[in-house]
Amino acid sequence: MDDDKIEAAAEVLRGAERVVALTGAGISAESGVPTFRGPDGLWKTYRAEELATPEAFQADPVLVWEWYEWRRGRVAAVEPNPGHIVLARWQTTFRSFTLITQNVDGLHAKAGSADVVELHGNIWKLRCTAEGTVTENRAHPLPELPPRCPACGALLRPHIVWFGEPLDRATLGRAFAASEACDVILTIGTSAVVHPAASLPLTAAAAGARVIEVNPEPTPLTLSAHVSLRGPSGVILPAVDERLRALRQA
Ligand code: APR
Repeated sequence: MDDDKIEAAAEVLRGAERVVALTGAGISAESGVPTFRGPDGLWKTYRAEELATPEAFQADPVLVWEWYEWRRGRVAAVEPNPGHIVLARWQTTFRSFTLITQNVDGLHAKAGSADVVELHGNIWKLRCTAEGTVTENRAHPLPELPPRCPACGALLRPHIVWFGEPLDRATLGRAFAASEACDVILTIGTSAVVHPAASLPLTAAAAGARVIEVNPEPTPLTLSAHVSLRGPSGVILPAVDERLRALRQA
């Protein structure tokens, strides 16, 4: 771990009043949830881009649901890690803190974060394909695949934004408004290739915010980052938090 960079990130955060954190699959990796584009992300021989689409669901809803059952099983069995816990604590550290996630696993809420902006939906919510009604359902395994709406009998789908589908406008509006108004944006555990989520740090930077990236690997965002912290978020974020607290007490 590069102590100078931890110090630099803590310095940037020390004077910040409005902070945004954008998280991706990498923050949940240390909890045991596979990332999408990492080596464990494959399910059978399929990539996420082949299954998380309306076309795949229309062609074979059982196959798509089997993949979500696999992901729901992985998520049900795990706990938030120190990275999630630091972000939950930061809700009260800054004057304003907005947590935006691309993750659908619900681990931020489980760690204690409130009012998380979930850009891509939530794996524990199901939506009726006919009526659009959204219900929470934590049963694992689901009693039948594909699940059906108890009210009208139509297919239920995961309440998740798939490739080729638009994001919820109000949710996206909140994410962009917070990014445009922040002093600092952290991008944590995201490959930064899926838009519009990947545009948020660029928007924040264009409006004058500092960008702090936390990722073991470089990403397309690295060049725009003021501080790039290489390493797992479960280690890096607690180290930044510890240094930030020391600076604020000094
Ligand atoms: N800590 C921090 N980052 C990590 C860790 C870790 N322990 N382990 C891996 N990473 C990084 C990887 O280097 C990679 O850059 O997390 C990133 C995960 O990238 P993706 O799998 O592409 O996940 P994400 O960016 O969230 O994907 C965006 O794509 O499939 C869709 O809708 C899905 O929300 C998802 C979106």
